[in-house]
Formats: sequence, structure tokens, C-alpha cells
Amino acid sequence: MQNKKWALVTGASSGIGKDFCFELAKRNFNLIQVARSSDLLNQNAELLKEKFGTESFLICEDLSNREKVKVVLEKTKNYDISIIVLAAGFGTSGDFINIPVQDELNMIDLNCAAVVQICSEFVNRFKSRGEGKIVLFSSIVAFQGVAKAATYSATKAFIQSFAEGIYTELKKFNISVISCAPGPIDSGFGSRAKMSMGLSAKPDGIANETLNAIGKRLTVRPGLLSEILSYSLATLPRFFRRIILNKIMGDMTKDVK
Ligand SMILES: NC(=O)c1ccc[n+]([C@@H]2O[C@H](COP(=O)([O-])OP(=O)(O)OC[C@H]3O[C@@H](n4cnc5c(N)ncnc54)[C@H](OP(=O)(O)O)[C@@H]3O)[C@@H](O)[C@H]2O)c1
Repeated sequence: MQNKKWALVTGASSGIGKDFCFELAKRNFNLIQVARSSDLLNQNAELLKEKFGTESFLICEDLSNREKVKVVLEKTKNYDISIIVLAAGFGTSGDFINIPVQDELNMIDLNCAAVVQICSEFVNRFKSRGEGKIVLFSSIVAFQGVAKAATYSATKAFIQSFAEGIYTELKKFNISVISCAPGPIDSGFGSRAKMSMGLSAKPDGIANETLNAIGKRLTVRPGLLSEILSYSLATLPRFFRRIILNKIMGDMTKDVK
């Protein structure tokens, strides 16, 4: 147990973040798990302990609040963390004109501001320890604007762009950055975003593929479905991608005003 390294995973209670917890535990990491739902985190921690002998330190905080993000950073400062996986995030959907602005601002705070705030601290910790890994979450919607998910897709474009920028800057400090850009995944995301995830993949395996790609690729599109969707879209001009994604998102949100 003493030989285990530590990983920080936000959004650890569900979906993709939970998949990362299990994969990292399998790879001999202890875990600092962050999310708001203490029950789910406790369940994860018990299972991980039983299956892999993993030690978990659980932090239940709302990461859309900058003061709470500071609390998370403070609570983790005595752990020698070598990888951070910043999966906490959510989406909104529908016409921008109908979405309460506070929902959009909370989403920007969680999906973008918290990521920048946590990375800003960890790039310095990683620089001091001589090595580190950062996993960020973009999306298939990050590569063009998308109607009915205008702010959400913009938060993911922000992350994709941010990841690409720091990827290059941080190489000299031996810090690896990867952007994970999934297509539709069957997780807690769809119900919170009010998107119907008809054609979607399970989160299982996303972590394995992403962790294997760190240091080799800047962006990973995990799973066959994401890969097919992404590469067929990637060859198209942005204008056509926008039309196709607008149609897909329109179908996924047809019950949302
Ligand atoms: N699912 C998809 O189709 C898809 C596709 C592309 C990209 N992504 C991205 O992948 C990431 C993970 O999504 P997912 O599919 O795994 O969704 P998920 O199952 O809904 O998980 C989201 C996680 O974020 C946590 N979270 C939400 N609000 C939070 C807050 N205010 N403070 C702290 N933690 C919070 C949730 O825990 P609590 O509710 O317990 O706080 C949960 O652990 C997100 O960044 C998402 O944008 C998802």
C-alpha cells in the first residue's frame, strides 16, 4: 500500500470519473475522490478498498464555487499526487434564450473556471516534483458551435483550446496533458443536461484508453462510436460540422424548449 501513488479525480461519484477511479485503482493508485454526493463516493471507496486495497480520501465540495475549490486544493496539499483527472462537469440544453443565466454561469464556473483554478495550482506542484499528468475533458461538441447546447459546447471548446495550449508549454517541465473528447456516453450527464442519449456508449474503458494515450497524443476520442463520429466529422469544414451537430443535438433535445 505504501508504494501506491496518489491520483486526484473530480467527478469521481459517477460516469467517466468513476471509470477513472476504478482504472487508476487497478493501476495501483490511491485516490482522492471529489464530488458533492458523499453516499456515492463512500460506496466507490468501499468497493475500491475491497477489490484493489485502494485508500481513498473523499472530499465533498461544490466545485462551481471558487472558495470551495480553494478548500479542495488546501486539503490535498500534503499528498504527493502525480495525476489529476478533472472530470466534474455538466451540460445544459435548449434554446439559450430560455436557459436561466445562473445555470449557464454555474456551468462555466464548474466546466472551465474550476479546471483553470485546479490546474494553476497543480502545474506548480508538478513542476516542483519534476513530473505530473493532467487529464481534461473536452467533447465531440468542442470543435464547432452547437445550437441547443450553445454554452455547454463553448465550455468544451474552452477546455480543448486550453489543453492544446498548456500541452506545449508544460512539456519542458515533464508534465503531460491530454484532452479526452468523448462522443455521447451513457452516464449521469444526459439526465442532468436533459439530453436523450439514444446512441451512446458506456463509460467503461474510457479511462484505460485515455491513460494509455497520455504522453503519446494530445487528444483522445475514446471508444469506437466517438472515433467514428469524430473522424468522419473532422474531415468536414466547420460549417458542415455545425449543421450536422445542430441536427444531432436538435434530436437529442427535442423535448426541451
Ligand atoms: N456523458 C457524455 O456524453 C459526455 C460526452 C463528452 C464529454 N463529457 C464530459 O465528461 C465529464 C464527465 O461527465 P459524465 O458523463 O461522467 O457525467 P456524470 O455521470 O453526470 O458525472 C459528472 C460528475 O461531476 C460531478 N459534479 C457535478 N457537478 C459538480 C459540482 N458542482 N461540484 C463537484 N462535482 C460535481 C458529479 O458528482 P456530484 O453530482 O456528486 O457532485 C459527477 O461525479 C464532464 O466534464 C462532461 O462534460 C461527457
